[in-house]
Amino acid sequence: AGTGKFFVGGNWKCNGTKDSISKLVADLNNAKLENDVDVVVAPPFIYIDQVNNLLTDRIDISAQNCWVGKGGAFTGEIRSRAEQLMDMGCKWVILGHSERRHIIGEDDQVPFIGKKTSYALSQNLKVIACIGEKLEEREAGKTFDVCFQQMQAFADSITSWENVVIAYEPVWAIGTGKVATPEQAQEVHVAVRDWFKKNISAEVASSTRIIYGGSVNGSNCSELAKQGDIDGFLVGGASLKGPEFATIVNSVT
Ligand code: G3P
Repeated sequence: AGTGKFFVGGNWKCNGTKDSISKLVADLNNAKLENDVDVVVAPPFIYIDQVNNLLTDRIDISAQNCWVGKGGAFTGEIRSRAEQLMDMGCKWVILGHSERRHIIGEDDQVPFIGKKTSYALSQNLKVIACIGEKLEEREAGKTFDVCFQQMQAFADSITSWENVVIAYEPVWAIGTGKVATPEQAQEVHVAVRDWFKKNISAEVASSTRIIYGGSVNGSNCSELAKQGDIDGFLVGGASLKGPEFATIVNSVT
């Protein structure tokens, strides 16, 4: 783990039913969680209220996405500001997740992710900003180029990094069971930290948490957590099991 406070997020993605979510929340409420870790869960929108009503205050709630600006006539979208996400108890939002980039088609070119980011931050919602390369990009030696381009797109919309956590999630590791090796993850985390030093400031480089996501589970988390620049995790599949998620939260060394 790095120097910042360890951060573990559970991204439940588009999973769960009222019943399974009640059970998961009960398991999380009963779990013993290391004090010195920020713990956040991101339920599907429609269950946020249920989770907010049942979940202990020890764990914060994140949304999985939000609209780029003020609400109004935008059918099906969710507004980030107080009347909606914050009003429902969310403190965080995940933006730029690879499933939204590559399945839904959000990208950096149309400054869509950036617009959402600056709007969310302006409304005091904290942001988990996701970056990561696809397999073919890694194989073509473009991992750093892709991550830096995504970082730059975020940077263009961020004036203060205080409320931002970077999640490095290599797309080839997400939901595949193929976790990055601790060395592979550490290498990119170091590169992102260097990018911060060169492009933003040494202060932001050392204070911004860079967390890893992609097939993290109860068995591989400890080795990853030992790396000096891995400040936590964004967990998908394994965050749907309360006890295993607690193991990941408690993996900080
Ligand atoms: O946002 C978390 C994520 O994309 C990783 O998913 O299922 O590989 O842990 P998973």
